[in-house]
Amino acid sequence: MGGLKIKSHPNLIVGLESPDDAGVYKLDSETALIQTLDFLTPVTDSPYEFGQIAAANSLSDVYAMGGKPITVMNIVCFPSKDMDESVLTETLKGALDKIDESGATLVGGHTVDDPEFKYGLSVTGIVHPDKVLTNAAAQTGDSIILTKPVGTGIMSTAIKARIAKEENIKEAVKVMSTLNRGAVSVITQFKFKINACTDVTGFGLAGHLLEMAKGSKKNINLYTKQVPLLKNVLEFANMGMVPAGAHKNRKFFQEIIEVDKEVDRAILDLMFDPQTSGGLLISVEKSKGKAFVEKMKTSGHKAWIIGEITHDSNSGFLNII
Ligand code: CO
Ligand code: CO
Ligand code: CO
Repeated sequence: MGGLKIKSHPNLIVGLESPDDAGVYKLDSETALIQTLDFLTPVTDSPYEFGQIAAANSLSDVYAMGGKPITVMNIVCFPSKDMDESVLTETLKGALDKIDESGATLVGGHTVDDPEFKYGLSVTGIVHPDKVLTNAAAQTGDSIILTKPVGTGIMSTAIKARIAKEENIKEAVKVMSTLNRGAVSVITQFKFKINACTDVTGFGLAGHLLEMAKGSKKNINLYTKQVPLLKNVLEFANMGMVPAGAHKNRKFFQEIIEVDKEVDRAILDLMFDPQTSGGLLISVEKSKGKAFVEKMKTSGHKAWIIGEITHDSNSGFLNII
């Protein structure tokens, strides 16, 4: 943050000097605190579903650090003069269902009057200090695994343009409201050694891979043909239903990417499509990649191998193939 003098602390494991999903602070040899906050403007017409999605999105950053959410607080900006209070009640109901599912406890919150409705959570979680999953320790040879299909930004644009079908909306809502807890429980239960982890949100799949590449000082190959997409989303991308954020993301990272000639424009748009409540990106030793995907599937979750760490690169680099 430009111009600000921010002091560090010996107990700080992850702070502002290394861009990651959440801050992590060591309390003692057994426990580190994970703290994060996130809030959104509505992404669906249904307040209940929006609550579920916003909660899943906020909780995700704790899972991305390998942790377990413990307590949460509501953050609400609400246009009380222009919007019926039932909208807020339904949103909170949806959020509470996800908070309950996560095992966390709602302990408070704050509401301000605002012309635009926004909702999210501040989340506090815990993790063993030696088991923190940063985005900066991927190793050469690792397989990269993704746990949700991509395309929610382009799908939202198509939904707003009223060209998405009912089944498309249903799938997008299901994907965005799914907690990223599954991958963390599989990692813990089957003792997988994960080298790096992050979640896919505003920078898109390629952008968050680039954050991992920069943090880990590695070159990553992204195999676009292996990336799972929401149904029909490629059609919508081809029709130009691409949010401005996707183009901004690609421009922002253009110096450290190379795109294979075979990769279609629409596919590239999907790789940089900003995601709401996207999946986890997990960097695991190559010999364990397939086993991890299998364990995810037999545990009722989804996972795909979509890339690999190929070699060192000081600036971090992404080959989109
Ligand atoms: Co994140
Ligand atoms: Co976040
Ligand atoms: Co992480």
